[in-house]
Amino acid sequence: LMGAIVLSKEVLYVGTNAEFAPFEYMENGEIIGFDIDLINKIGEKIGKEIKIKNIAFDGLLPALQTNKIDLIIAGMTVTKEREKFVNFSNDYFVANQVIIVPENEGTIINMDSLKNKKVGVVLGYTGDLIISKIQGVNKVQYNSAPSSIMALKGGNIDAMILDSAPAQSYVAKNKGLKIIEIDSEVEKYAIAAEKNNENLIKKVNKALEEIKAEGIYDELIIKHFN
Ligand code: ARG
Repeated sequence: LMGAIVLSKEVLYVGTNAEFAPFEYMENGEIIGFDIDLINKIGEKIGKEIKIKNIAFDGLLPALQTNKIDLIIAGMTVTKEREKFVNFSNDYFVANQVIIVPENEGTIINMDSLKNKKVGVVLGYTGDLIISKIQGVNKVQYNSAPSSIMALKGGNIDAMILDSAPAQSYVAKNKGLKIIEIDSEVEKYAIAAEKNNENLIKKVNKALEEIKAEGIYDELIIKHFN
């Protein structure tokens, strides 16, 4: 039979940055984590094979815009600025920023006390943007959370700022560090697609809804957050 056959893509390329445990990180040469499990479940729901591409965090939006990837899942916070460039799904996780300091540090108790201190941030993360709004902070940019943690442990910086869940994960794995909770704005993580890919985001949202309704989301939370 002749006729129009609409071939839809079988594979979805999904960009992440695997330096953000427990959402995405490397273990034994494999990219694993909450986001990876979640996007694979979404792939099952919408009938696509998921292929993960590990990209520098600040390269994720450009990769999406140039069609090198179809989606981003990277513990990415929805911001007004990013919304100019991409379409976000409904949010799937709520987070906030915290300060990490050496265990014996006693003077850093809130955002204001970061003035005149050397504070590590990760390039392009929301923590980087927040710190930039406080005057008098000596901001030091790193390429990843692990490299900022190393600098903190080595005494090269006084504190660092990071999303709450990864901060807890890194503090648990590194002796001699503690978390200072701050009054930071709530951040919502969502999956991003290219601006004119409304259709894909609709499918992702529907899959997310089903995954929550079926208890799969809660199972993944229990698996990755303990
Ligand atoms: N939530 C922060 C942001 O959106 C940090 C995300 C970092 N994610 C990663 N996979 N490295 O800016």
